[in-house]
Amino acid sequence: MDREHFYATMNGEGTLDYEIYLNTKRLLSCQKDFHDFCNQDELQFQLVHQAEELWMKLIASTLLDIDDYLQEENTNRVLTLFKRVHIAQKLMIDQLALLETMSPKEYQEIRLGLGNGSGQESPGFRTLLKMPVPLWQSFKAHYLDHHGLTVEKIYDAEYRHCDAYVVAEALAEFDELFQKFRYHHLQLIHRTIGLGAKSLKGRSVEILNEGLRIKFFPELWEIRNKMTDSWGKSYGVVRESIGGHH
Ligand code: HEM
Repeated sequence: MDREHFYATMNGEGTLDYEIYLNTKRLLSCQKDFHDFCNQDELQFQLVHQAEELWMKLIASTLLDIDDYLQEENTNRVLTLFKRVHIAQKLMIDQLALLETMSPKEYQEIRLGLGNGSGQESPGFRTLLKMPVPLWQSFKAHYLDHHGLTVEKIYDAEYRHCDAYVVAEALAEFDELFQKFRYHHLQLIHRTIGLGAKSLKGRSVEILNEGLRIKFFPELWEIRNKMTDSWGKSYGVVRESIGGHH
C-alpha cells in the first residue's frame, strides 16, 4: 500500500456535513504528523491519552448534571446518568489494555519526547478529583439530612432499598470504578516501566499507591465495616459451625 497516499487522505477534506459537524479534520489533526512519530507505537500512545481525556470530559459534565438532579431529588435521572458515567469509567479502564501492546523499549523511546509531562497534569483527572466533595454534599443534604436519614439508617437500621440507598450505591460504584482505573493504571506502569523506577517528576511511583488508598465517599465504605462489627457481635468472634458439633 502507498503509505504517503493514505497519510495524505486519512484526515478527509473536512467539507462533508459529517466532517463539518464532528470537526473531523481538526480532530484527526490533534496527533503528531505521521512523519514525526518516533516509532509505530506513538500514535496509539497519543490516541489513548486523548480518548481518555474525552471520556473524562463526558464524565465530568455528566457529574454536573447529576449534581443538579441530586438537588431536585430526581432519582430516575440521577441513576440513568450514573449508568452513563459508570460505562465511561469502564471504557477508560479497558482502553489502558491497548497500551500493554507496546513494548517497554518502544515506551522508553516515546518517553524521551514527553518533556516534564505526566498524567498528574491531566485536566480531566484534576477536574474529576474536585467533584466528589460537592456531589457528596448534595447527596447528604437532599437525600439524607432532609429526610432525617443517615447512612447507617439506609443501609441497616431502616434498610428498605429506598432512593437514598440506590443513589448511595451509584456513588459507591463511581468510587470503586475510579479505584479500578488507578489499579489498572498501576499495572500498566508495572508492565511498561516497572514500579521501582523514578517518574518523570522525579518522584517514585509510590505516590500512586497513595491514590489507591483514597476513597471519595469514605462513609459508604465505613458502613460495611460497622455493620460487620455490629452484626458480628451477635455471634462473637468465634462462631459455631453451621454444620453443628462433631
Ligand atoms: C504506558 C503508559 C503509562 C505510563 C508508563 C504511565 C506512567 C505514570 C506514572 C509513572 C505516573 C506517576 C506520576 C508521575 O510520573 O508524575 C502517572 C500518573 C498518572 N497517569 Fe499515567 N501512565 C501511562 C498511561 C496513562 C494513561 C493512558 C492515562 C489516562 C488518563 C494516565 C493517567 C495518569 C494520571 C491521571 C496520573 C496521576 C495520578 C494521580 O495523581 O493519582 N496514564 N502515570
